[in-house]
Amino acid sequence: PHSGRLKKTVVMVGMMGAGKTAVGRALAARLGAPFLDSDAEIEKAADRTVPEIFERDGEPFFRQKESQVISRLLDGECCVLSTGGGAFLAAANREMISARGVSLWLNADLPVLWNRVKHKETRPLLRTGNPRGTLEEIFNARVPIYSEADLSVVSDGYASIEQMVDRVLSVLA
Ligand code: S3P
Repeated sequence: PHSGRLKKTVVMVGMMGAGKTAVGRALAARLGAPFLDSDAEIEKAADRTVPEIFERDGEPFFRQKESQVISRLLDGECCVLSTGGGAFLAAANREMISARGVSLWLNADLPVLWNRVKHKETRPLLRTGNPRGTLEEIFNARVPIYSEADLSVVSDGYASIEQMVDRVLSVLA
């Protein structure tokens, strides 16, 4: 029943480690829709990695590129679009996402997120002396904003990726 074409781009939002890319990719496969990832598109356009962009060009530059990329992708064919954890924070981004797509928050608890990100070197925002504390601060600041998403699904750390896709499909239906 869910194999038909998407009517709107589904934009995955939520914290780093929530599973936006993994679940988004599996969701797209299930829907037979294209999968795109804003971080990957930014990397392609800039020809460097996200941590390199943060380091060399700074976060404001990254945020500017992120808004441009999301706007461009929302203009294209309907797809599943995974975004970086900060993409939903700017009001202008939230507005364009909700106007031209449907936002879906992958809502994961802090311990689940920490488990998933603690061994990764790919998150420039967590390169601090106290990454666990930094993650908690970011989490507390962002949850109220993510909760403005059109739809949400709990990502509890027990569900498999395919079970997460089932949950997403049931709220999209
Ligand atoms: C960020 C999350 C990252 C990436 C960048 C900033 C954030 O994406 O966009 O490091 O502000 O939370 P993931 O959510 O895929 O880790």
